[in-house]
Amino acid sequence: MRSNYCGDLRNQHIDSKVQLCGWVDRCRDHGGVIFIDLRDSSGTVQITVDPDQGKELFTIAEGLRTESVIQIKGTVRLRPKESINKKLKTGEIEILAASLNVLNPVSGNLPFTVSIHDEEPIKEELRLRYRYLDLRRERMNKNLRLRHKTIQAARDFLEKEDFIEIETPILTKSTPEGARDYLVPSRVSEGNWFALPQSPQLFKQLLMVGGLERYYQIARCFRDEDLRSDRQPEFTQLDMEMSFMSQNDILSFNEKLIASIWKKIKGVELNLPFPRLSWEESMDRFGTDRPDTRYGMELKNVSKIVKEIGFKVFSGAVKSGGSVKCINVKNGNKLISNVRIKPGGDIFSEAQKAGGKGLAFIRVREGNEIDTIGAIKDNLSTTQIIDLLQTVEAKPGDLILFGAGETKIVNKTLDRIRQYLAKELNLIDSKKTKLPWSFLWVVDFPMFEFNSEENRLEALHHPFCAPHLKDLGSEKALWSQRLKTSRAQAYDLVLNGLELGGGSIRIHDADLQQKVFATIGLPKEQATEQFGFLLKALEMGAPPHGGLAFGLDRIVMLLSGEDSIRDTIAFPKTQQASCLMTDAPAEVSKEQLKELHITSTLSDTE
Ligand code: AMO
Repeated sequence: MRSNYCGDLRNQHIDSKVQLCGWVDRCRDHGGVIFIDLRDSSGTVQITVDPDQGKELFTIAEGLRTESVIQIKGTVRLRPKESINKKLKTGEIEILAASLNVLNPVSGNLPFTVSIHDEEPIKEELRLRYRYLDLRRERMNKNLRLRHKTIQAARDFLEKEDFIEIETPILTKSTPEGARDYLVPSRVSEGNWFALPQSPQLFKQLLMVGGLERYYQIARCFRDEDLRSDRQPEFTQLDMEMSFMSQNDILSFNEKLIASIWKKIKGVELNLPFPRLSWEESMDRFGTDRPDTRYGMELKNVSKIVKEIGFKVFSGAVKSGGSVKCINVKNGNKLISNVRIKPGGDIFSEAQKAGGKGLAFIRVREGNEIDTIGAIKDNLSTTQIIDLLQTVEAKPGDLILFGAGETKIVNKTLDRIRQYLAKELNLIDSKKTKLPWSFLWVVDFPMFEFNSEENRLEALHHPFCAPHLKDLGSEKALWSQRLKTSRAQAYDLVLNGLELGGGSIRIHDADLQQKVFATIGLPKEQATEQFGFLLKALEMGAPPHGGLAFGLDRIVMLLSGEDSIRDTIAFPKTQQASCLMTDAPAEVSKEQLKELHITSTLSDTE
């Protein structure tokens, strides 16, 4: 049907006869000569239709609508000097058409322009409804190719390292990864349900018990959770598991994998090893476990300095077990007005969104003088002021923003403000910072966190992470108690403030696994009912093992410079977890429901 791809044609093809197929990107009539930009998946090329080549050909060209599918035969020739287009790879040549065959004309109206010449933003709703048209656009075409190359780069690396790709079930049992499950009713086993996997976690562990030693999968995962620009209900992990490797082995192995992807896709050499930060330090310095380290403005804890002062908002917070922390906005006096920090201002409302009641502030003037609103200044001694300014490394002109209260909320508030101001003050312009790719590992997460709604501990990652044995100590009788406060051998890879992946060393001892289940409120019978298959496997020669999963969509989002993972997925869902193109999820017929023995829904609809 075709001899060449449009985007591949160059000077070396001059005088060749070619046969091309593709879409009419745009059509222009220039005083008797018609120019068609013909586009296929490789790019575009200019077709020239000259009336001298025959009236019939010319009439067909005149009637062409954009996005019609055509086939042309013609000869490659050099463009006249004045019409060379340096921006196009094929810009030095054109095809003089000898014949033109319309393979499929466009009949209806197009909802938006696909052309490479059109840079008008298109509403995402329209793009998702007519995704097949959107995919024809250069941007989406590029993103999906980049996604493919990223997967290819990972596969190449893992192949050389003796990993094997194994598929795990989609119809399965629930794995606790912290979200709600998507459930599928079983027709054959009345009243029973499959859960779609939130991740292949337990299967990959069982592959290790099965002696496979090095597994990976480009794994589809399903989570019914609140969606954001970096979260989809159906997303893809680059999932791995390996036996007989320590946490250090796994981290350095994965850095090399990431470096090889970045080298292949971006042509950059990443500096290895990536920095490592304990969870505790990360929370202390950045207020979050996924810090963006491309800029400063770190959180400083000043609780000790202000714990006794007369300003009750500060001292009261410390006395009731919370803290007072602050960030220093360099030159903030010039950049940020009081109105923005006080109720009604944008910075105030950001603080509120994170649960903070507001932000106290100090403006630093010449000679260690400070300006405040309210009672802070009057309650600080000169020594305390000096101490405070030194702690936050303040200079005249700086603005110090404070959060006071429950430490969790203070961290959340200042993290949010730090990120907000970094964007707003352009601190993350990649040209300005030396680190456009700021990777780091966060390690040593706590095993559990307290869920105040359910009044119980829950696993911070998932309940299969191994604790640090040194936190448990040598006396097994104390393990159940010590587990509660021990750290996990768990790690997350963070890039520019986004969690790219996470994993852990797993528990390979059935007794310890039982203890962890008990800690999160799963008594033995219930644990056996839910995870008996795992507990049994752990008793039958489970090797020490661990692994990690990267969010593939997120990796591609960062590599392609997009702001949403929806732009890296061929057919994504909306924020409401629906597909606008197919209208899924959709109602099913009563007959289907009956077959699945789902009667309650049936009676609701009757
Ligand atoms: P975790 O739940 O941290 O770990 O997921 C691993 C990575 O998957 C990505 N991710 C998502 N991407 C898009 N949409 C979502 N809804 C979504 N949820 C998670 C993130 C995240 O870092 N089984 C463990 C891994 C392990 O322990 O080996 C797991 O799934 O980039």
